[in-house]
Amino acid sequence: MSKKIGLMCGSLRKNSYNRIIANTIADLNVPAAFHLIEIGDLPLYNEDLEAGELPASVVAFNQGIRDADGIVIVTPEYNSGIPGVLKNALDWASRPPRSGALQGKPVGIVGATPGGLGTALAQVQLRHTLEAMQVPCLPFQKVRISQVHEKVNAELKVVSDERTKQNIQSYIEHFVTWIEHRSN
Ligand code: FNR
Repeated sequence: MSKKIGLMCGSLRKNSYNRIIANTIADLNVPAAFHLIEIGDLPLYNEDLEAGELPASVVAFNQGIRDADGIVIVTPEYNSGIPGVLKNALDWASRPPRSGALQGKPVGIVGATPGGLGTALAQVQLRHTLEAMQVPCLPFQKVRISQVHEKVNAELKVVSDERTKQNIQSYIEHFVTWIEHRSN
């Protein structure tokens, strides 16, 4: 049966390059069904909010993760790390301890920046956070897209660079194979 992959974008920007990449992944011809998991409506994490009924946005967010066999996080880099909105989402997904929605869920990481390092530092930080959450992350393979503004058609909101498209395709194929092997 085809795998269900949740896509989480670390940028809330309307014209986000990373969202273009996420949408490109959603349209790939791979044996998987993709759904977007929105993080922009989540409240700032506050333990007090867990005392009563969880906010509807948190419930929907957790459900989006639980419905998926694996999650691909597509993120920019802010100040050599991940954006605060993404860290906030991960903190929500880590709760309650040992049974949060993301616990044990396989994750892949993709990142794009107009800069030269392809979100390398953000990806290191993201792996560190996922490790703390006991979330397995696809090893060895990396997609670090630098100079992304030259590799997408911002008007059509598509990846225009063939090599970048192939790298993304190959990464997602590896990711799907990895989660298939893990579930056998
Ligand atoms: C950035 N940007 C950035 N880029 C980078 O490669 N390394 C970095 O450390 C930072 N730091 C940073 C901090 C803040 C607060 C902002 C707003 C931006 C630039 C960033 O990569 C660029 O704005 C991207 O276009 C953001 O991704 P989206 O929104 O296009 O997906």
